Amino acid sequence: MTAVPTSSSLVPALLWALSFFAAHRALIGSAQSLPPAKHDGFVYAAEHRVDSGTVEIEAFLDPLCPFSRDSWPPLKQAADYYGPRVRLVVHLLPLPYHDHAYVASRALNIVNGLNASATFPLLELFFKEQARFYNAQTINLSKAAVVGYIANFAKQVVASPLKSAVVSGFKNRSTDLKTRVSFKYSALRGVFSTPTFFVNGFLLPDSASTADYDGWRSIIDPLIAA
Ligand SMILES: *[C@@H]1O[C@H](CO)[C@@H](O)[C@H](O)[C@H]1NC(C)=O
Ligand SMILES: *[C@@H]1O[C@H](CO)[C@@H](O)[C@H](O)[C@H]1NC(C)=O
Ligand SMILES: *[C@@H]1O[C@H](CO)[C@@H](O)[C@H](O)[C@H]1NC(C)=O
Repeated sequence: MTAVPTSSSLVPALLWALSFFAAHRALIGSAQSLPPAKHDGFVYAAEHRVDSGTVEIEAFLDPLCPFSRDSWPPLKQAADYYGPRVRLVVHLLPLPYHDHAYVASRALNIVNGLNASATFPLLELFFKEQARFYNAQTINLSKAAVVGYIANFAKQVVASPLKSAVVSGFKNRSTDLKTRVSFKYSALRGVFSTPTFFVNGFLLPDSASTADYDGWRSIIDPLIAA
């Protein structure tokens, strides 16, 4: 027989549940308003117009992940080849075991807010010089030193008047909250590793076919033709 809670045990349980949800909501409310004002993600070649026939690729990448780094050139080549027939959106998923991935992702959000066209140049710069920010290479650095190191690294993609704003952007809470949205969005989509790709909303099961340009062509060509 299933245990039916008596009213004496039910009332405290309900009160507990209500207080839990109230506290939980208060926590969310004070930290951040969700949903965010804008969709998460950086749109590659955002000047392209999209229509109902545009194929959407979503890439979940970590700026400090070597597999994300290796996946980027063929994906970019494919996006450049298809032009407006493909819309490529990059979502950042800073993986917790890459110690500075969140700081790097925040740098991308800061730069994006100051000069959107510097976003992908900075992502590529992180990929190129990634090893400088790996866990082992930064083991003796304080958190503050790493933030300074990454801020100074990131500011090279913007023009002189904006360089100090990149550095001060790390003191602006709204850039932190924006970076959290990327993480939350990844969790919402069930993404737990990088790179992860979706095409028209569906997870690509086979990572081998996304490893090179021909693989991307074999995925996208039939969709464009259809
Ligand atoms: C970190 O500090 C230890 C102890 O001083 C030193 O042996 C090691 O080489 C340092 N590592 C790096 C990457 O600087
Ligand atoms: C914006 O970024 C682009 C690409 O890095 C760069 O060429 C341009 O000079 C930047 N402009 C400013 C004002 O930072
Ligand atoms: C903080 O950043 C937001 C957008 O990212 C911007 O609108 C706001 O002006 C910034 N605040 C300061 C004090 O720089």
